[in-house]
Parts: sequence; C-alpha cells; structure tokens
Amino acid sequence: MRKIIVTIDGYSSCGKSTLAKRLSERLGFLYIDSGAMYRAITLYILRNRIDWEDEMAVKEALENIHLEFLYNNANGKNEIYLNGENVEYLIRDMLVAENVSQVAAVKAVRDFAVAAQRAIGTQKGIVMDGRDIGTAVFPHAEVKIFLTADFSVRVGRRFKELVEKNPNITIEEVEHNLEMRDYIDSHREHSPLKQAADAVILDNSQLSPDETLSKAMNMVESLSNAH
Ligand code: DC
Repeated sequence: MRKIIVTIDGYSSCGKSTLAKRLSERLGFLYIDSGAMYRAITLYILRNRIDWEDEMAVKEALENIHLEFLYNNANGKNEIYLNGENVEYLIRDMLVAENVSQVAAVKAVRDFAVAAQRAIGTQKGIVMDGRDIGTAVFPHAEVKIFLTADFSVRVGRRFKELVEKNPNITIEEVEHNLEMRDYIDSHREHSPLKQAADAVILDNSQLSPDETLSKAMNMVESLSNAH
C-alpha cells in the first residue's frame, strides 16, 4: 500500500481508536491517537492546577509540555509520554475525561496539538483519529472516514471499558459525560467536530470490530486508488 494519510473522526466512544489501531496494523502504517495528546495536556493542567481560562498561564504551561509517542512491543500500541513519563493509562481516567473537552477547546492548546500532529504527518503512512483530523489537521488527506454509532451503543461500549477500572461507575455518569463531550466538541469555536465534506460515513452500531475493519479497508482501497 502506497503511503497515504487516513483520518478517522467522530464522536467519543464510536470505536475510532479500535478501528484506527487495527487499520494501521493491516496497512503497515503508524497509528496516532490525537485525543491522547489533548488528554495528556489536560493531565498536566490538572496536576499543576492551571486555570485553562487564563491564556497566559496555558501558553506558559504548553512551553513546559513535551509529548511523544513510543511504540510498546508488548501490546503493539504507540503509547503517549508526557515529559518522559508514560501516561497512557492515567489519561483514560474519568477525571481527565471530565475536563478534556474544555481544555481541548482552548485555542492555544489546539494550535500546539495540531502543530505536533502535522509534524508527525509529514512522514505519511499514518492513520490518525480524532475530531478535526480530516477537517483542520489534514484537509488534503487521501482517505477520510467519519465513524458514527448510536448513542446507546456508544454508552454501552464506554461503560464496559470504564467499569473494568472503576466498578462503582454508573451508566448515568457515562451517559452524562458523553453528552457533555459531544456538545462541547461539536459546538466549540475553534475547529469543532464535524464531518468533512469529502469524508465517507461508516456507521458501526451493528458491526463487529472485524466487520468495521473490513468496510474501512474497502474504503481505503477504493479511495487511495482514486487519488
Ligand atoms: O478521542 P478521545 O475521547 O480520547 O478525545 C478526548 C478529547 O479530546 C475529546 O473529548 C475532544 C478532544 N479532541 C479534540 O478536540 N480533537 C481531536 N483531534 C481529538 C480529541
């Protein structure tokens, strides 16, 4: 497969990262989870008690943030490091999930993350998932997928993931968090979540991960040939 850029955007918990990871393995491409960057920045901001509405404070904080992805042979995943610390597990915490959409809406944060994403993209041969990858980060990507799933399916998936870490979590909490993030992610001023005009929709409400992967592979094959 020719080295191209594949973007996968969509709401939270649609299965973007599962698809992106498997697609990248199938294609022999690098997988970059752009949400992990916003989560790691949020973790730094929370740990250092920075007020994300204070533009100067956020800019100063960003100067002290170094993010990188390193491949973990054990699980085949590119894991995120915040100033040298592997925070891949910590950033999946509910406290980060509760604050990440607000932090990701801050312009300086987006500029920082988008610059880092574009720098990675110069090497091509990547699959990147997020909210604005096909619209703002790589508007000229060869293949753009907009992944969707019914709200109840997404809540169920997210609950299953979180309850393994925190048995006290309730369905209502998960529902509330997804509703809030959907709203903020799609209504923020800077590069809100929306489908790129040239993205293809893939609804995986009724599909298994294997079926989703096979539909996505068909899309990649036909679209990359068209370019
Ligand atoms: O994909 P995720 O749930 O890990 O993303 C966490 C948050 O980061 C999400 O609520 C919105 C934000 N995000 C974003 O604004 N732009 C991206 N490209 C990826 C994530």
